Amino acid sequence: MPLIEVTDLRKRYGNRVAVDGVSFSVERGEIFGILGTNGAGKTTTVECIEGLRQADAGELSVLGLNPATDRAALTRRVGVQLQESRLPAKLRVREALELFASFYPDPADVDLLLERLDLRDHARSYFGKLSGGQKQRVSIALALVGNPELAILDELTTGLDPHARRDTWKLVEAVRDAGVTVLLVTHFMDEAERLCDRVAIFDAGRVVATGTPAELRATAGESTLDDAFVSLTRSAR
Ligand SMILES: Nc1ncnc2c1ncn2[C@@H]1O[C@H](COP(=O)(O)OP(=O)(O)O)[C@@H](O)[C@H]1O
Ligand SMILES: [Mg+2]
Repeated sequence: MPLIEVTDLRKRYGNRVAVDGVSFSVERGEIFGILGTNGAGKTTTVECIEGLRQADAGELSVLGLNPATDRAALTRRVGVQLQESRLPAKLRVREALELFASFYPDPADVDLLLERLDLRDHARSYFGKLSGGQKQRVSIALALVGNPELAILDELTTGLDPHARRDTWKLVEAVRDAGVTVLLVTHFMDEAERLCDRVAIFDAGRVVATGTPAELRATAGESTLDDAFVSLTRSAR
């Protein structure tokens, strides 16, 4: 059974259709990418998967649970990357991790996590005083502190410099290698090519293609995922 199964998901905000019949599935142990331009419906879809939003229609199964009705059970097993604006500036890094660890039945070792995310020297720093890359690492650490089976990372490296992006990619690979399934939302093709085992390309609330990066390049007859993305999303218009 897939770890995530999304079938004909639909969601509108008033008259605006954000998600228009999306289907895809994610297997245990893979890094699955959701690719798409701004407004394609990526965040709405993952918020339905997280149980943060209620879909209008469609079927959702996440770890065998229904996010709409089993949200509490799911929250203990799924790690979600917080948008940085949601953390108080006056919280210290270690305090934030310990606070979040206290929410979970079997949390990760906070010291080990600080070490792995290269945050040991900042354990006593206020969140608000960190650089963009450091904040991003904290938000990833918070997604992992509950020892999740599934980590959902939305706009993982947006705003990071090239070095910090590469460090973050290595980290996500290490997380996957440790057995965590990763659902990654991105609009960067190089990130998807480097990290994702499979991707779904979203365009205007629909999935226009699913496959490995190599399959999508072949389908589109293009040599880069970037060109494949442009050609697949254009032909879908
Ligand atoms: N809370 C909301 N209220 C109204 N419209 C929204 C809301 N959230 C998203 N939208 C709209 O839904 C569409 C999809 O948004 P979103 O899921 O955030 O896309 P993405 O993450 O791919 O950029 C966009 O047109 C966006 O403006
Ligand atoms: Mg988004």
